[in-house]
Amino acid sequence: MTLVTTGELVRRAAAGGRGILAFNFVTVEHAEAIVAGAEAAGSPVILGLSQNAVAYHGGRARPVTAAALVLAEDAAVEVGLHLDHVEDMDLLRQAPGAGFSSAMFDAGALPYEDNVAATRAAVDWAHGAGLWLEAELGYVGGKPGAPASAHAAGVRTDPGEASGYVARTGVDALAVAVGSAHAMTSRSAALDHGLIARLREAVPVPLVLHGSSGLPDAELRRAVASGMVKLNVGTALGVAFTGAVRACLERDPDVVDPRRYLAPARDAMAETVRRLTTALNGAATDQGGGA
Ligand code: G3H
Ligand code: ZN
Repeated sequence: MTLVTTGELVRRAAAGGRGILAFNFVTVEHAEAIVAGAEAAGSPVILGLSQNAVAYHGGRARPVTAAALVLAEDAAVEVGLHLDHVEDMDLLRQAPGAGFSSAMFDAGALPYEDNVAATRAAVDWAHGAGLWLEAELGYVGGKPGAPASAHAAGVRTDPGEASGYVARTGVDALAVAVGSAHAMTSRSAALDHGLIARLREAVPVPLVLHGSSGLPDAELRRAVASGMVKLNVGTALGVAFTGAVRACLERDPDVVDPRRYLAPARDAMAETVRRLTTALNGAATDQGGGA
């Protein structure tokens, strides 16, 4: 039994000056690959399921979280289960029953005072239900469908505002905008490390980086050295999955058995998880390039 809470994994990583990767899954194959990749790297991992992924499954989280929980329990490494980018309070209320130990409440697109009020209410409810709650201040740019004003290029979290935000909302961790963007398919992001260091000084809770697919290996490590603790990755798995499927279908256009392309797709995702986890732990495997 190696299911552990996200809060415990993040607390331990922060205490040890380490980072922990949270990979978002969509299908059971993703979850299998994330656990296999973390096992190959010998590191704990967080499995994240976003509100958008729940919507993809017809609004039902439990069919896929049930599989993820079994994978976590059977894993050779510690695994946490996290509900990511939740805007809907009804879905947040379903989180404990679906097996999540944590959630990221996403009011990051709202004006500051509205974000504070919505997040405070979410924190009050979540803590009553035993959930660890992450929130976001200063939009992490590039999320599809977000209002244009919320993710204008160059958006950054202000340390003074972040300090007040954490005090007023009571969040357990804070996602901040420091130069990454969601959905990058090239590993070319450069973070504002001075800002990360100022945020770490100003904020008493662990810092979270979204959009980590866009970071080269060295930048991943430097992000942790500067003060990041939880680093979220999603798109890099999509790049691996889709690339493997595309290669298989191009090689054999007559294939109809989905296992023929899902198996290599799962292997490719597992390798991405292993490689990024190993890179974060310090053994550089490359300096960027492919996701
Ligand atoms: O919350 C999830 C992450 O921020 C994933 O971002 O898809 O750009 O890696 P990414
Ligand atoms: Zn994100």
